[in-house]
Amino acid sequence: MNDEIYPVFDKIKDRKEKEIYLKQQAKVIWFTGLSGSGKTTLASMLEKRLFELNYFCQILDGDNVRSGINRNLKFTEEDRMENIRRIAEVSKLFMNCGIILICAFISPTKEIRQMARSIIGEDDFLEVFVNTPLDVCEKRDPKGLYKKARNGEIKNFTGISSPFEAPETPFADVKNANPDLNETVRELLIKVIPEITFDPSKIL
Ligand code: ADX
Repeated sequence: MNDEIYPVFDKIKDRKEKEIYLKQQAKVIWFTGLSGSGKTTLASMLEKRLFELNYFCQILDGDNVRSGINRNLKFTEEDRMENIRRIAEVSKLFMNCGIILICAFISPTKEIRQMARSIIGEDDFLEVFVNTPLDVCEKRDPKGLYKKARNGEIKNFTGISSPFEAPETPFADVKNANPDLNETVRELLIKVIPEITFDPSKIL
């Protein structure tokens, strides 16, 4: 922490007022899982459904964040840590605006997700494990990256040459067994909606 920095959050309209305005509770829905597990697909389907239901969300995902704000970061342990740290801080800013975040990042280790959870806050962090087995992700290989990782063309590739630790008690565990993704999203909505729905009793 820099001693010469004085955050002015107390002078800014607070999160509660913005949540009331948007009639929703800000949360971070955090998708974790291997590359090719379906995180981005599920995140965008979820956003679409939530938007139709009048919830206001923002998606952050690996490919868009890494080509913008985090374009200087690679896939070493330290860079992944920094990637997730910045994303968690950015998520917090969005949350202070009353917005629901849908984050889709491999976020491969318990330590990395714990850091995100502690930046965002225990109560606001909804961890969704996109639980697609490695062999299925590798067979899909939508970007051809697993092939390159097996050939040694990509180093530190999650699941091949870099670890992935499954969450033990996620908020939701998406087994991906159901080929009907709409049904998967419906099940997720049922869990998520009570968490993000504005509760008027809080202001009465
Ligand atoms: S994380 O580990 O830091 O959370 P993040 O979700 O941002 O990763 O980025 C993952 C995406 O980067 C993958 O979906 C894949 O397209 C690409 N990628 C490129 N190199 C690697 C690598 N070595 N390991 C994992 N993903 C990689």
